[in-house]
Amino acid sequence: MDFEIKYKDAMARIGTFKTPHGTVTTPNLMPVVHPGKQTLDVKKFGAEIVITNSYIIYKNEKLKEKALKDGVHELIDFPGTIETDSGSFQLSVYGDIDINNEEVIKFQEAIGTDIGTSLDIPTAPYVKREEAENDLEITIERAEEASKVRKNLLLNSVVQGSTFTDLREYCAKQISEFDADIYPIGAVVPLMEMYRYADLVDVVMYSMRGLPENKPRHLMGAGHPMVFALAVAMGCDLFDSAAYILYANKDRFMMPDGTLKLENLIEMPCSCKVCTEHTVDELKQMNQEERAKLIAEHNLHISFAEIRRIRQAIVDGELMKLVELRCRSHPFLLDGLRRLQEYKEDMEKLTPSSKKSAFFYTGYESLARSEVSRHLNKIKNLEPKSKNLIILPHTSKPYAKHVNREYIKKYTPKIPSFYSNGKNTDYGDSDIVIADVPFGIIPLGLDEFYPLAQNESPTILDENSKQFIRQQIKEYAQNYENVLIHRKIISNFDIKDYDLIEEELLLPEAKISDFDRLKDIADYQFGKGSGEALFGNDSEKIKIEKSRKTGKIRHVYENDENIVNMRASDGFLVLSDLGAKRLHNFLPSPNMRVVVSEDSEPFALKGKSVFNKFVLDCDEKIRRNDEVLIVNKDDKLLACGKSLLSSYEIKDFNTGQAIKTRKINNLSE
Ligand code: GUN
Ligand code: ZN
Repeated sequence: MDFEIKYKDAMARIGTFKTPHGTVTTPNLMPVVHPGKQTLDVKKFGAEIVITNSYIIYKNEKLKEKALKDGVHELIDFPGTIETDSGSFQLSVYGDIDINNEEVIKFQEAIGTDIGTSLDIPTAPYVKREEAENDLEITIERAEEASKVRKNLLLNSVVQGSTFTDLREYCAKQISEFDADIYPIGAVVPLMEMYRYADLVDVVMYSMRGLPENKPRHLMGAGHPMVFALAVAMGCDLFDSAAYILYANKDRFMMPDGTLKLENLIEMPCSCKVCTEHTVDELKQMNQEERAKLIAEHNLHISFAEIRRIRQAIVDGELMKLVELRCRSHPFLLDGLRRLQEYKEDMEKLTPSSKKSAFFYTGYESLARSEVSRHLNKIKNLEPKSKNLIILPHTSKPYAKHVNREYIKKYTPKIPSFYSNGKNTDYGDSDIVIADVPFGIIPLGLDEFYPLAQNESPTILDENSKQFIRQQIKEYAQNYENVLIHRKIISNFDIKDYDLIEEELLLPEAKISDFDRLKDIADYQFGKGSGEALFGNDSEKIKIEKSRKTGKIRHVYENDENIVNMRASDGFLVLSDLGAKRLHNFLPSPNMRVVVSEDSEPFALKGKSVFNKFVLDCDEKIRRNDEVLIVNKDDKLLACGKSLLSSYEIKDFNTGQAIKTRKINNLSE
């Protein structure tokens, strides 16, 4: 089964996969349909895929007969994709069931299910390690057996391992060998019932480390919309919900930020059909069955609405903002978010390098987002151009434009405005940076690069941000002999160890030349030394064309030959023929490289898209939206382009597009 990624944010994927009964878009919710007593028609809520239980069908003579004769789609009256569970859950509740793994796979195939499940053993959280290990060996054996027994059936292979994170990762790696179609993460219902979201994050993230990127993952038994955003950000693509009925039976309304009890309501809680067509009093006066059906409808409406909202957030690049919002609705969800910070390297590997939307800081947890860790990493590519550093407070963005004007008016050296590390000197020649939340240090030349120009944070600072900025200033200042810090920064971030300078200082114009700006951006984007490799050291030779409307750099030439262009949306440099050749010469392999097979060389040379199946290898550092160099196995340059995926995805996918390619002219020169 082919899974195709359309949009990405954090570890989340909007993707599609095809089954014999239709196309399924992820992330998605599979309502649980009871094969014998379903009363709600889930089609009306936009369900593309549902889940039902093959063991319940198997155990009931009437259902079994009908399912074998007419098929499961007819039985539950659902024309779309049907996934069936195997009875593992019954196994975990009753301790024993009367069907074996091979039989249950064959039965699911016989009733025409689209996606079947082997008889995994859901090991509860916090059991003894020995128990988890023993169960796990059986789960893995059965996953292998299922992959051999199935013929046309698409297959679920469930990750188990209880709360032992190493066992989760081990299991995920083992079952990935058997070529299943979807990888559910099992036995997490008790964790969610206990609100152990931090442990849930551990279990999911370790499972993800072992799972391939090219298959959908299903968080089994997760049906409350308040966990969807967090789970999607961790790479979960599918959810199943029996909760919409179970909660309704207890007069509970699910909301994306928690659960409401009918008895406490004076108003209907949302704007769905049920909530707008009925009053609280009406519901209270209904008989239980009728009421439960309506509340179940509300629960489905709300759950699908949350899925839609998450998809929009992925497209907009705002998923982590939504996750932070959702996780603030319960202290234990907040634990989950905070635990997720321990996995920021995992998250960064799959997060696109540029996005459509601005970075909104919603609390100190935002400092753990990939955009921040990536900036802290990339800023190390810049080499000091002076032994002096001046650190200025933020102004409006882009900083360089505003710092310049204010600097001359307000930061006049006539009043004591600056602190230094004791070495008073002539600061006429200095590197100038801004210190600001959430990115720490921003050299002036980078002030238009994503996301350094596209972010907002509150003006009233929290302690964690202050601490973070102090740390960033400390680290950055180490590269300089003399450091001058504006008094606003000293006071805003409670910085010690710098002394007020009373005397007059000779200060530079807070300005950066277009040439220096280009070189900084190139170093930051492509790696140390790339600026010099692309543009040399003689600014006279380089012609820079700017947009008349925005004043931003657009095109860069040397002797009428185009080196790079600047993307207006995010300030990224896009390589032209000369730029690609120069970077290819300068940066040693594997930097920026996507190595393609011999078969695809002629296509790459013509500027045709590179497909994942033709990629032999690629630089681990590549992320979605990054510029890349397309080469053959002898590192001959073939073309350049923009990556549509992260290196980790390119390595796992065998289908779909990897690179949007651009042809390079006159390659042999
Ligand atoms: N439903 C909820 N949890 C599980 C699980 O761990 N395995 C299976 N097969 N179904 C489940
Ligand atoms: Zn409602």
